[in-house]
Amino acid sequence: MTLQNVLPWILCAQQAGWAVGAFNANTLEQVQAIVLAAQAEEAPAIIQVSHRALTYIGSGNEIRGLQYVAAIGRIAAESVAVPLALHLDHGTESEVLQAIALGFTSVMFDGDGLAFEENISLTKRLCGVAHSVGVCMEAEVGEVPKPDGQAYDEAAIALTQPDEAAQFAEATGIDTLAVALGSVHGLKTKQISLDLDRLAAIRNQVSIPLVLHGSSGVSDNDIKQGIAMGFCKINVATQLAQAFTGVIRDVLNRDGDLVDPRKYLVAGRNAQMEVVRERIRFFGASGKAK
Ligand code: G3H
Ligand code: 13P
Ligand code: ZN
Repeated sequence: MTLQNVLPWILCAQQAGWAVGAFNANTLEQVQAIVLAAQAEEAPAIIQVSHRALTYIGSGNEIRGLQYVAAIGRIAAESVAVPLALHLDHGTESEVLQAIALGFTSVMFDGDGLAFEENISLTKRLCGVAHSVGVCMEAEVGEVPKPDGQAYDEAAIALTQPDEAAQFAEATGIDTLAVALGSVHGLKTKQISLDLDRLAAIRNQVSIPLVLHGSSGVSDNDIKQGIAMGFCKINVATQLAQAFTGVIRDVLNRDGDLVDPRKYLVAGRNAQMEVVRERIRFFGASGKAK
């Protein structure tokens, strides 16, 4: 298949109470792990790349990174019969515009740090560009912190205000809304409980599909409840990186003579594929692309 606009699948998930998995990739093997897992589970899935992944892939030049990823994503989608979307995760204004021009089928503008009104006006403008070429648009209200191993102040996290979420969704015309309910990016253990009362309050005022960021640190019980209450796209990054890197560490520790990258990267790819498959099943997406 060609790369798909994932919105019909997300809306289908919203109707039926499951969620589409959105999986972050930083390397070719991580993309392949997602593709192989989606194929094995006969599920729609989203391959997504963050700003830092693009900078890495483009050796410091994120536009070059977008070009690489657009080409890889196209080939990845054409290699399987299940619907795959290529998503820009936490993009800047220029990355969103470039990603749309290069054939990404979904984009997220991260207006973190902008004043609310400015975030609305920029998101609305980018959403108009995305919709003019059939690209799905995500944006965020509130903050899911990205501490990157540093300490953060849990009490200072800006959780999503339901009335602001409703105003933002209405004013911008976005397709999906990322909300902050206490999750944090990059956690290596499932230690977070979500503010599910807040999710219910948001759901009362916002009808578009909701997105969970930072799922690696959230308890599976709360993810499950969150899906039943309205999360239709779940982002997973750190859990994948843990599986990928963990097994490679083991392989290299076991064989100090190993130098052929294919012999350890294949182990990382397989380990990550199993985690993606497990997440797809957990989100209820398995078999949905049959
Ligand atoms: O939200 C983004 C993902 O957690 C990956 O982020 O590529 O900046 O580590 P990163
Ligand atoms: P984790 O790293 O916690 O899985 O978060 C992923 C994410 O939200 C990507 O946007
Ligand atoms: Zn995120």
